[in-house]
Amino acid sequence: MQRTTERLILRAPTLGDLDSLFAIYGDPATNQFNPSGPLSRIGQAQSLLEGWLAHWQSEGYGQWAITMRERPDRVIGFGGIDARWYLDVVRLNLGYRFAVQAWGQGYATELSQAALDFAFTELVVPEVFAVVRPQHHASIRVLEKAGMQRIDTLNDVPGQAPSLVYRASRDEVVSREQ
Ligand SMILES: CC(C)(COP(=O)(O)OP(=O)(O)OC[C@H]1O[C@@H](n2cnc3c(N)ncnc32)[C@H](O)[C@@H]1OP(=O)(O)O)[C@@H](O)C(=O)NCCC(=O)NCCS
Repeated sequence: MQRTTERLILRAPTLGDLDSLFAIYGDPATNQFNPSGPLSRIGQAQSLLEGWLAHWQSEGYGQWAITMRERPDRVIGFGGIDARWYLDVVRLNLGYRFAVQAWGQGYATELSQAALDFAFTELVVPEVFAVVRPQHHASIRVLEKAGMQRIDTLNDVPGQAPSLVYRASRDEVVSREQ
């Protein structure tokens, strides 16, 4: 269940991650571009975590809790791939949210590359999607550094500019690597 990258450990979340999850998802700074805003009650974090655990239970994969290899006891973020419903079908979606102290060190890109590698080589799915607000330039940059391409828009926030939909396809990634 545990995976490693050059600097990170990616592991299945547990109920013991609740406080870390609430700290990160309840921080206004990590939700600047999230139309729903930060979580305000720990019960919301508990529901989110229980949803992730149910996804792991049914699918065998899902959102990872992320630590640095050198500090495996401290969660710096959450992210990975899970199934979500949008644009009329269930899609495998890449997402991430890191604690502010962990920003600017390439961790989101490292996580994204590992997640796409996992999806294409172990789940062997044809494509992975991601949705980002149009003004979220750092996240757009992460998706593009991970090799994803903008393919569509999604009107998911009433009265505001549409989100951008990104995709990585297995065929493109495999042919790029050959
Ligand atoms: C967005 C987020 C995941 C980025 O994580 P990170 O670990 O700092 O990302 P990385 O270091 O891998 O890459 C960030 C890139 O964006 C660039 N960047 C950062 N802020 C930027 C900005 N305001 N405008 C343009 N580019 C920006 C960085 O320079 C870097 O690109 P570079 O390597 O070419 O220099 C992180 O800020 C976060 O968790 N935010 C809160 C949650 C969130 O917004 N999640 C995404 C929802 S779609």
